[in-house]
Amino acid sequence: MKLNDKHILLGITGSIAAYKAAILVRLLVKEGAQVKVVMTELAKEFITPLTMATLSKNPILVDFFDPENGQWNSHVDLGMWADLYLIAPATANTMGKMANGVADNLLLTSYLSAKCPVMVAPAMDLDMFQHPANTKNIEILKSYGNIILEPATGELASGLSGKGRMEEPEVIVEKVIDFFTSKKKLNNKTVLVTAGPTYEPIDPVRYIGNFSTGKMGFAIAEELANQGARVFLITGPTSLNTINKSISRIDVVTADEMYSAAINYFPKCDIAVMSAAVADFKPSELFQEKVKRGKDNLQINLVPNKDIAAELGKIKSKNQVLVGFALETNNELENATQKIKSKNLDFIVLNSLKEKGAGFGFNTNKISIIDKNGRKSDFELKLKNKVAIDIVNKLVDLLNQKNN
Ligand code: CTP
Repeated sequence: MKLNDKHILLGITGSIAAYKAAILVRLLVKEGAQVKVVMTELAKEFITPLTMATLSKNPILVDFFDPENGQWNSHVDLGMWADLYLIAPATANTMGKMANGVADNLLLTSYLSAKCPVMVAPAMDLDMFQHPANTKNIEILKSYGNIILEPATGELASGLSGKGRMEEPEVIVEKVIDFFTSKKKLNNKTVLVTAGPTYEPIDPVRYIGNFSTGKMGFAIAEELANQGARVFLITGPTSLNTINKSISRIDVVTADEMYSAAINYFPKCDIAVMSAAVADFKPSELFQEKVKRGKDNLQINLVPNKDIAAELGKIKSKNQVLVGFALETNNELENATQKIKSKNLDFIVLNSLKEKGAGFGFNTNKISIIDKNGRKSDFELKLKNKVAIDIVNKLVDLLNQKNN
């Protein structure tokens, strides 16, 4: 049994392909998986909850609460329970809602709160599948890290023939097994990632900060976890969420807090990726009360923060890989190369604020990677989760070189 004790949450939406979900559950259970099923109202018209409950050996969840006894069906608990959320069949309607954060049923609230990877098997007519609105939604879902099981080409319920048929249950189960068993590049590795800005308080209501959103660091953490690594993500203030359960998140506010956490976790890590935009300075003293408006100029004395990357560079062992980021506005290559030396990095990821679509807040980034020997590789402008794949691939190569 290849899925022994894996927890799979199966989401079924209102498509004619819903009948295949019965076979899907049977095959998953046969492989040893524990399956819970959440259905949309419309899905019940295509396959009965009784069939699905019998096959999955679990009650079916449709409503936010049980209409019989009022018991709350917690989408948060479902999201925590699952190792994988498989939505099959997924209609264009549900995918559109998933892409846009609409949460008007239990299947969708479970999606938004799922901590586990999500696999989606679309099912629809060929014209719907090809519509730019739908292809855009699929791209958005991919950018969230969701795995899309491309529909097959063949005869459709409408009588037309083309791409849109939900993949056969046997193939879906194979993909699920592959997902859990495939050889991941960073199995048994532990990685530290710093992300986001730091805030340096001036008084109880004000701080010095920067425009970092943490998107790049979070994308790297997700990709590392997708490759099997255990990740400690030390992040400054951000509105982002982590998805993969292998990420342990440590929230900090100031550079000093980030430094303490990083020094603490680094010795047990094989790799550290310093993607945080750490404030270089902090006020020398914190005003205990809110500073009042006055006629005179206000002078705030700033003192340097610890350079976290450089401090880790000092204690780095020969098998550990330390990677930094450089955000430069001028003399990019020279400054980046200098930082590799001064912080004892293995390589540095250079992103320029001059590049259109790259830098703080964007979903895309354009990077160059510069290694210790000054070799520079340039990458295209891409979505940050794709940039993360390039960075992680480089990390894997280097780690393999160091440990062989
Ligand atoms: N960094 C760090 N701690 C700091 C400052 C920077 O860990 N106090 C890390 C960043 O996370 C990044 C790298 O060092 O990986 C380079 O950051 P950057 O701000 O570009 O460089 P600085 O060393 O601060 O130099 P400058 O701001 O003068 O360019």
